[in-house]
Amino acid sequence: MTIDRLPDRVTTPRLVLRRWQHADADVLQQIVMANLDHLRPWMPWIKQEPLTIIERARLIEDWTREWEDGGDSFLGVFLDGEPIGSSGCHARVGPGAIEIGYWIDQDHLRSGYATEVTAALTSAAFDNERIGRVQVHTDEANDASAGVPAKLGFRRARVETREPAAPGESGRLIIWTVTRETWTPPAPPRPSEVDQVQGSPNESR
Ligand SMILES: CC(C)(COP(=O)(O)OP(=O)(O)OC[C@H]1O[C@@H](n2cnc3c(N)ncnc32)[C@H](O)[C@@H]1OP(=O)(O)O)[C@@H](O)C(=O)NCCC(=O)NCCS
Repeated sequence: MTIDRLPDRVTTPRLVLRRWQHADADVLQQIVMANLDHLRPWMPWIKQEPLTIIERARLIEDWTREWEDGGDSFLGVFLDGEPIGSSGCHARVGPGAIEIGYWIDQDHLRSGYATEVTAALTSAAFDNERIGRVQVHTDEANDASAGVPAKLGFRRARVETREPAAPGESGRLIIWTVTRETWTPPAPPRPSEVDQVQGSPNESR
């Protein structure tokens, strides 16, 4: 399925989400390498790591082409201009729908960043009138990941059984869904709360 132009740049109260670019190859390499053990249980693509820096740059070029052709968007999550994770909008869950994926750096967990990312991408997805449904898929063993759609009011629609794709997975995949009609974006934090946590919103490179 092709949806023209999935979100490629979104700002949130604390973060900038933008598509990874060729010039990010070094910083993406560093943050992936720093998080191999953190990500290995849950992210199937970790099996291909470590990539060389040249392979990482080619991967970003592939992502860029894919997005330009109307496919998925792969976005870095930037805090004060530094990457603290990655996210994606994937057009692989049927017509009029996207799936959102995410991971957050091990030194930035439990601060609401994945929730902020997912909320912002869900709202951005619904800005496209052709998208009426957003999904998040979490393995039943991955409580941290399930907390994100649960907190945002996604509905636990069903559980699908599949071969585990990463070592921590049970093979039971929870499909979380929200529709345009049922989506209620979380209230933005009051400015004083944002200041206390991070300072004002920042542009990344
Ligand atoms: C899953 C992940 C992205 C969550 O990122 P995060 O920024 O720490 O998540 P948030 O701070 O937004 O947490 C949202 C909610 O999820 C739940 N949650 C998050 N981490 C949790 C943990 N370690 N244990 C139990 N619940 C957790 C909580 O309900 C939390 O809300 P609360 O902090 O108000 O209680 C992060 O743990 C990660 O990168 N994990 C490895 C990669 C991965 O599993 N990606 C998802 C694949 S589907």
